[in-house]
Amino acid sequence: MIDDIRAARDAALAEVETADSLDAVRALDARLLGKQGPLAGFKKQLGSLATVDDKKAAGQAVNEAMQAVTAALEARRAELGDAALAARVEAERLDLTEFVAPPTRGHAHLVTQAWERLEDVFIGLGFQIAEGPEVETDWHNFEALNMGEGHPARGEFDTLFLDHAAPGEEPGRTVLRTHTSPVQIRTMLEQEPPIYIVAPGRVFRRDTPDATHMPVFHQIEGLVVDRDITLADLAGTIEAFTHAFFGPGFSSRLRPSYFPFTEPSAEFDVQRPDGTWLELGGCGMVHPNVLRAGGIDPEEWSGFAFGFGIDRMAVMRHQVADLRDMYADDIRFISQF
Ligand code: DAH
Repeated sequence: MIDDIRAARDAALAEVETADSLDAVRALDARLLGKQGPLAGFKKQLGSLATVDDKKAAGQAVNEAMQAVTAALEARRAELGDAALAARVEAERLDLTEFVAPPTRGHAHLVTQAWERLEDVFIGLGFQIAEGPEVETDWHNFEALNMGEGHPARGEFDTLFLDHAAPGEEPGRTVLRTHTSPVQIRTMLEQEPPIYIVAPGRVFRRDTPDATHMPVFHQIEGLVVDRDITLADLAGTIEAFTHAFFGPGFSSRLRPSYFPFTEPSAEFDVQRPDGTWLELGGCGMVHPNVLRAGGIDPEEWSGFAFGFGIDRMAVMRHQVADLRDMYADDIRFISQF
């Protein structure tokens, strides 16, 4: 009988192996382990065996067979369950990449674009890039630039003063730099001539924002100090810059003007191909007092300087009607450029 039990068990196990769905496993479970099943049949026959030992051995064989079939059914159920889950995952899979908007790439701010182009053009003309701090001393921002205390030109700068006072100093001697010109002084104090630098940077003035003014804006400063530098070098450099930056159809002119830190001083304008003029910035021959403040002997060296607004260049290039739009962070505006 034990052999019959084992044969029934093996047959049952073989059937379990062939079950190809969870439904089939469920049906087999009921049939193989149920009261009418092949193994349950043996239990009923135990009574007909001759000895207690025979009954015991056969009973154990039936129990073992039932356990083996139960375990096999369970394993098969797990296998098919995993496969069913995998099939369902595969069937319901979403290719999310199909639904995501195409990746968008940002770009540099308009002012950054103009700033970098200006750097490129001046580097192409042989200049180096210099930097200075945005928080400046009164001395670097005014005094060393030939604007002593009480100089009327100071009034035009709408200066933002800081409460901060350096040791031994009154407050009000530290400012947010009102122009990039103090970088002239810092460069001369750090570097021996010949000096050929441009210094782009952020500057600050106590202005109410409107279509053409912002309290924070950007300038680029130029400084050349070398032997025998003349106004012709300044005019030629402005003209070379105009061609390189705006294009061959553009030209430049200098108009007499006044700045405390240059003598003589000029405004420079750029003429568009259609003949109209564009005011760009200020320039001039570096004032001897400014060279001296920078530790440079004006008898030995001479130089020129210029400065103009970077935001203005960007506004002009892209015909932006209102400067404030450049800083409003409206994606509809920004994404046009
Ligand atoms: N610093 C002047 C301003 O902010 C601009 C300027 C004028 C710079 C003449 C210069 C210069 O270097 O020579 O208005």
